[in-house]
Amino acid sequence: MAELYLIIGLAMIGLIVPIWFLSQGAPFVPTSDSDAEQMVRIVKRLRPRKIIDLGAGDGKLVELFATHGYSIDGIEINPRLVRRGQRRLARHGLTGRATIRRGNLWKIDIGVYDMVVLYAVSNIMGRLEGKLRSELRPGSFVISNYFAFPNLVPIESRGRIRVYRITPGLINDLQLATSEERA
Ligand SMILES: C[S@@+](CC[C@H](N)C(=O)[O-])C[C@H]1O[C@@H](n2cnc3c(N)ncnc32)[C@H](O)[C@@H]1O
Repeated sequence: MAELYLIIGLAMIGLIVPIWFLSQGAPFVPTSDSDAEQMVRIVKRLRPRKIIDLGAGDGKLVELFATHGYSIDGIEINPRLVRRGQRRLARHGLTGRATIRRGNLWKIDIGVYDMVVLYAVSNIMGRLEGKLRSELRPGSFVISNYFAFPNLVPIESRGRIRVYRITPGLINDLQLATSEERA
């Protein structure tokens, strides 16, 4: 009987853990080399001051943008990937201008950044849109790999890569919607 409970317990954990991870964000899939190069071209044109990769994975994009001279932070929920990313930055001598730390993207304030890059998953794009619109300053850019936001219109699309700009109008719309909800 005890063995049966153990098996049921393990099966539940095996189901619950992946479901929880998926509800938080995307599984780990690194951005392809060609998409990453496309992003570098876009970033060079837009010249952000400070970038954040929301869900940094193994630090591929953090390393790439830091190598091109940009200041970038990565936030990643999976501790194994965080360690891999940190080792990667140390190996390439990039720890002065780039960081990767463990954290949940829903729990950090991204207001100090003027560019967000992300490779998320379709079921969280609406919630992410709300976070970006409420925390980013007007003029900030968002680069999304593959997945589109439900209510934002990209200013540019190149293959799988979409670029968005947060405008004062978007922020005002959100404030209006929030105050109407409160009323
Ligand atoms: C599709 S991968 C993208 C990795 C990297 N940005 C790239 O483009 O190569 C998404 C990453 O987001 C991480 N992630 C998922 N939910 C998260 C959350 N709530 N907070 C922080 N990271 C999260 C996953 O562990 C995964 O490594």
